[in-house]
Amino acid sequence: MSAAKHAAQQDSIQTPLAQVLPLQCSDLEALCALERQAYDFPWSARSLQESLAQDSVKLGLWCDTQLMGYLFAQVILDEIHLLNFTIHPAWQQRGWGRHLLGHFLAVARSLACAHLYLEVRSSNVRAIRLYHQAGCRQVGLRPGYYPAVHGREDALVMVLAL
Ligand SMILES: CC(C)(COP(=O)(O)OP(=O)(O)OC[C@H]1O[C@@H](n2cnc3c(N)ncnc32)[C@H](O)[C@@H]1OP(=O)(O)O)[C@@H](O)C(=O)NCCC(=O)NCCS
Repeated sequence: MSAAKHAAQQDSIQTPLAQVLPLQCSDLEALCALERQAYDFPWSARSLQESLAQDSVKLGLWCDTQLMGYLFAQVILDEIHLLNFTIHPAWQQRGWGRHLLGHFLAVARSLACAHLYLEVRSSNVRAIRLYHQAGCRQVGLRPGYYPAVHGREDALVMVLAL
């Protein structure tokens, strides 16, 4: 194989052709599998099913038929609440989270939402940093909001003016 072809192949492995598409009910199995891989306390299949049925925004990040990430959000009046935002562990720290979040913010603005609200574990340095980079600021704290391996964990409440 020529050096150029090898480089191109490596590049396509590192930078797959990914697209963001609305999630369908038929994606439930893939969502459940990824959710279990990504979290110590995953959403149940029932919660994911309800989100698929009811949430205003449900986006999947796909590379061909592989689900690389997803995001659920609910519009309430002129607010949009981010409920679940996940990148497959194998694809984390390569820019896909920022990519999906950026796509989501464009969708939220197109829906004329004025503010984004979200909660994040106080220990989730990666997500907090990404949200700060996107312009979110902390506006509150919910003590003991999340289950944790030892007891409970606080949630930071963050907001972004859209
Ligand atoms: C949080 C999550 C969605 C981020 O997605 P990602 O694809 O890993 O993030 P990206 O590669 O796009 O990185 C974007 C930014 O996130 C932050 N980040 C990513 N990896 C990081 C790390 N190891 N340490 C600190 N910050 C990190 C950085 O700010 C980074 O920007 P930078 O590279 O310019 O510094 C992803 O890690 C994930 O799915 N985690 C498990 C589920 C979860 O915690 N979801 C959020 C719930 S609120």
